[in-house]
Order: sequence, then structure tokens, then C-alpha cells
Amino acid sequence: MCGIFGYCNYLVERSRGDIIDTLVEGLERLEYRGYDSTGIAIDGDQPESTLLYKQIGKVAALKEEISHDAPRRDVSFVSHCGIAHTRWATHGEPKQVNCHPQKSDPSCEFTVVHNGIITNFRDLKTLLINKGYTFESDTDTECIAKLFKHLYDENLSNGHELDFHVLTKLVLLELEGSYGLLCRSSHYPEEVIATRKGSPLLIGVKSEKKLKVDFVDVEFPDDNAGKPDTPLVSRSGTPNGSARSQTTNGFSGLRRTRPYDSNNLLPITPNEFNLRHSQSRAFLSEDGKPNPVEFFVSSDAASVIKHTKKVLFLEDDDIAHIYDGELHIHRSRREVGASMTRSIQTLEMELAQIMKGPYTHFMQKEIFEQPDSTFNTMRGRIDFDSGTVMLGGLQAWLPAVRRARRLIMIACGTSYHSCLATRAIFEELSEIPVSVELASDFLDRKCPVFRDDVCCFVSQSGETADTMLALNYCLERGALTVGIVNSVGSSISRVTHCGVHINAGPEIGVASTKAYTSQYIALVMFALSLSDDRVSKMERRREIMNGLRNIPDQIREVLSLEPRIKELCQQDLEEHKSLLLLGRGYQFATALEGALKIKEISYMHSEGVLAGELKHGVLALVDEQLPIIAFATRDSLFPKVVSTIEQVTARKGHPVIICNKNDDVWAKKAETKQLVTLEVPQTVDCLQGLLNIIPLQLISYWLAVNRGIDVDFPRNLAKSVTVE
Ligand code: F6R
Repeated sequence: MCGIFGYCNYLVERSRGDIIDTLVEGLERLEYRGYDSTGIAIDGDQPESTLLYKQIGKVAALKEEISHDAPRRDVSFVSHCGIAHTRWATHGEPKQVNCHPQKSDPSCEFTVVHNGIITNFRDLKTLLINKGYTFESDTDTECIAKLFKHLYDENLSNGHELDFHVLTKLVLLELEGSYGLLCRSSHYPEEVIATRKGSPLLIGVKSEKKLKVDFVDVEFPDDNAGKPDTPLVSRSGTPNGSARSQTTNGFSGLRRTRPYDSNNLLPITPNEFNLRHSQSRAFLSEDGKPNPVEFFVSSDAASVIKHTKKVLFLEDDDIAHIYDGELHIHRSRREVGASMTRSIQTLEMELAQIMKGPYTHFMQKEIFEQPDSTFNTMRGRIDFDSGTVMLGGLQAWLPAVRRARRLIMIACGTSYHSCLATRAIFEELSEIPVSVELASDFLDRKCPVFRDDVCCFVSQSGETADTMLALNYCLERGALTVGIVNSVGSSISRVTHCGVHINAGPEIGVASTKAYTSQYIALVMFALSLSDDRVSKMERRREIMNGLRNIPDQIREVLSLEPRIKELCQQDLEEHKSLLLLGRGYQFATALEGALKIKEISYMHSEGVLAGELKHGVLALVDEQLPIIAFATRDSLFPKVVSTIEQVTARKGHPVIICNKNDDVWAKKAETKQLVTLEVPQTVDCLQGLLNIIPLQLISYWLAVNRGIDVDFPRNLAKSVTVE
């Protein structure tokens, strides 16, 4: 989805050139989140003026645009706030006016960058148009900028000059949907607002002196008894509709519902709001003196790590207000039991992890990282000698999981495939019935969930909107929730009761590769830890653990097939429009995941087919031309897979067979040129998918490269899908 970046310097002199470079570089690191267009907003040459740069396409195009305009780079700012955005289009096609930052008016009194979707934007737009505003873009975000201005002007005319965070709170009361947003304003120079609901945002802090505190207090609105939580006007549905229920989304009930009034915004009492910084412990240095400090607000730690490892993750409904070198966090709504502080954490990520190193693409780098990433998933968690698995984040919850009536694995895309790949071994070891659900379908069906269900959410980013919504749905129904997540500090890892970080390291390539193999291993380890009290499973557990021990080296061995795969892509696959992948049992998930990789990166139509289903229809597609890849490694279903492949060769198909090394059955057929083989080492049946997927990752990569596709930026896609 979109990437958001903000940079604020206080008492740290920076030239405009430095500020632009910092913002643009931040965007480069976020580009994988969306690359339809980019933009930045910074201070102009006149007091309280704003310079806005926007460009369609990738960050390189924005750089070009800025260089043509040649803003004075040498003007220096002792304190300054700039905001930036890289877009994955939701509302409005990628064109200049739809790029962010969106502005409130031609003079940019308020500029906003936004990730997410404002679902009631049409109503808001109608309202604002009725009040005389004209819109230039098709985006939902433009309403936010105009709403800021409208509420600012309205309150000013009533004699209320609001604090920026108070104004923000009023704006948020009007918004429905999801957002991660930054706002800057000429009315609040050197201040920035960062707020989120359903979209990730974190704030990196770089300070010259040691900070006095390693947390920030959350500042709540005035809690005086009986005082209402300052609503403005709530809008939902049509302009003439009634106000939305104020209690449905966790509001404490203190908030008043006022009738909809499309013309008049009700005046507020300033005292209800202007409780500025009541309980804040600001970012003072230990000696209590002014502290030169820089803040980096971002959707992703990857763009902050170069500057600082000290970060604070915002939570939904937080309004972070940065000004005067201080960071204050307010809540946009009241609630009972909300956490009172946000701690400053130290990122463990290294800059090198988010650089491409010697590789051409992040995807390639991540494919080749898998011997290490899979090792890291297991590191310190499996004692191969004693045969025990210890998952710290789950251990205390295992008895509750064992009591579950069923376990539901819920995920999207590649993460869903990792659930499918491990479902059978999970059921075998845990003896708990497991169902695997696509998050969106699970919600569409309003699947019944009970208190004695365990719901396991698998996600690389930990931010996928569909998965997150399913998680909230399960929490509301009292289920025990488990997260299997890569991104530390992400929403899913924070909201679930317990879970496992897969420790694959940052995954930047839009096509997920190393996260898949690490999710797979994490789920197998979860199943192993559930069965450690079962004598009957001891032998099987031992076999799996021995298999796991060898996986990193075996992946390394499969990776050495790359030159052969490159050749195969050029000679046999590249010219074709469509490709079938056949697998059954454990390898059905591999076929689905392989097909997804090929589709998303090389744009070649590909379909994962359950080998047993071939004869029920898909066989009609098979002829001499259609490329087919079949997974025929040794397991109990091997004879059935052989017979499916015979059905293919009988129709003059020339399949590529992923088989085990030195398997006679295939060696003979390969000699007679009936088919082509790619040999992988053998492992335990339930782990074989970890090795079999590697050739497919490489095939998708090389098909794409040979077709001239920018592998890390496949069209229409973005990493981390934070909209429904
Ligand atoms: C495919 C891919 C996507 C993601 C899906 C879920 O290569 O990356 O299908 O797997 O969008 O994302 P996460 O795992 O972040 O929840």
C-alpha cells in the first residue's frame, strides 16, 4: 500500500537540500509499498508558504521533477517539518492531481499524506462542496485536507484558535475507514501531526543528547467527570442520514450523538479541548535543556533505520503531535483500559538487511537468503539433541491451544499457502481439526467462531487489512488468537494474544519468498510444540526435527540449480502464455504458491492444479504446447502423481518434473526426452514443500527478468495490503 514518510528537525540546522534528500531517500525505502506516484511538501521561500512536488511513477521521476524546478537548496532551517508519500492508487487513477500530498486550497494551508481508505469520503465531499469547496482530485484524501481547513476556519471564526492536535481530533471524528496520515499546516509552522487507524505508523527519534525517558505518556482529553467527549458532527451514510451509532466501535459511550446537520458544524467549547500537554513527558534530554532532535515518521522501519534505531510504534487512534522538538501522543477517543504509554524500542534491524547488496533485485536477494532466514526461524528454538521445541511467545498458551475444539488458520496470498502447506502435519501432530481460511472469504461468510476456537493469523507484514479485520472479528467472539508474523511491532503481532515471530528479516520484494519458507517452518514448530507430550508421536517428531536441521543446507543445494533454471526459462517456458502446475498432498500448496509467484512477477497466466483433479476437466487444456510443471518428489502419493504425469505425456505433453535426486523413474524418462527434470534433495514428506518451492521462486524470477519486468515493482501490486 502507500508509504508515508515525515521528517522533522528541531534545533538541528538543515538546508532545504538536505531535507529534500532525507524525504526522497525515505520514499525510496518505502517504494515497494506503492509506486504509482510520489510527492513531498516542504517549506517555501515566503513565510508560511509551502513547496509541493508531485510526480507520477517512481521516486526517480520525483527526483527529476525537483531537479528541474531547482528549489533553493541552500536555504537553511533550524527547525522544519516535511512530509512525503509514495502511492498505490485506490481512489483515482495515477495522475498528477491525484498524487499526495493533497492540499486544502491553492495556498496549501493544510497538506496531507494518507495511506488507507476513507469510506465516507463521498458524503464528506458533498458536504464540503455545499460549503463552497472545489475539489481537483478524485482522491478520498483531498477531503481530509479540506476538512482540516474547514474546521480550522470555522472554529477561528467562532473565536477558537485550536491546538493542532485538537483540530485533528475534530477531523478524525468525521472520518470513517482506515488511515495512516500526516498533516502539516502553514497555521502551525514546524509542527506535524501523525495519526493512524488500521495503517502502520512509527516514529524514529534521533537526539543529540541522551533522552530523559524511554517512553511517551499518552495524553488523554480532559477526564473531568461528566464532561462529554467533544463530538463535532458525526456523519454516516447519505447527507440526510442519521448519525452513526457511537457505541459500535468501542467508544465508551461518553461521546454524545448529535443530529446530523449538513450546514452547521456545532461550536465547541475550547476548554474541552485545549488541555495542551497536561501529562506529557516531553523529549527533554537528561540535563533538562533543549535537545536538538530529529523525528522520522514512517509506515515502515526500513526508511528510518539509516537515521536511528530508536522507534516508537503508534497505536490505532493515537494522534502524535510533534512540535518544539517534543513528541506528544493524544488519543482520538476515550476508552477504558487503554495503554498509557508508548515505549521507545530499539530496532534490531541492520541497514544491510534492507540493502540489495550484490543482488539485482530484492526478490533475488531474498530467495538467496533462505538458507539463513530458515535457520534464523529455528535459531534458539529447537534443541535437536533433546528433541524439544521452545517457542517463547506461545509456551504459556499451549495448554489452552491443546484444549481447542478446532484451530482456524487465517491468512491471505502466500501466507495462506503456508497454512495450506502445513495443515496436514499440524492435524497429524496436534490431533486438532484444522481449517484454513482466506481472510476475506472468512469475513464474507461471517464464519461462526466460538470461545473454544483457536484462530491463528499468519502474515508477513502483520498489517494486511483483511487478516487484521478477521483478527478483530475473532477477538470479538472470544477466540484465543495466535499470530505468526514477520514484522516485529506490527498490528497483528500486538493485537493477538500470543504468537511467534518468524525472524526471516525484512522482506522488501513485493513477491513473498523467504517469508513463505519461514512461516512454513514456524507453523511446523508450532505443531511440534503442541505434540511434545505425545509418546505416540515421538518417532515422527524426531524425524521432522532431523529434517528441519538439514533444511538450510538443502535449500542452499537447490539454489545451485539457478543456472539450469535460467536456461530452462529461456528455452522452454518464456514464449508461452500459460502454465500449469500439478501437485497433490503436501505439494498442492507448493503448486498454488508457485503459480502465484509466476503470475504476480512474470504476468504469465499460471494455475496450480490438484493433480487428482486433472482428469476432471483441466486435462482438456493439455497438448503438445502447454507447459506443465509437476511436483513428483517421493512421498506416499508418489504412485498417484506418476499416473497423473502419464496422463499428461499420453497427450503429448512434455512436463518439467520437480523430483528427488537420482530418482530412477524420472531419470529414464528424461533420457528419452519425454520430459525435463529438476532434481532437489529429499527430506521428510511434510517438509519437502520447503525445497520444492525454491525452483519455482527462481523460475518466476527468471521468467520476469527475461521478459524485462521490474521484478521488485510488479504492476498494480504493492507490499502490505492495508486496504480491504
Ligand atoms: C504474494 C504476496 C501476497 C501476500 C499477501 C499477504 O507474493 O506477497 O500474496 O502474501 O498479500 O500479505 P501478508 O503476509 O503481509 O499478510
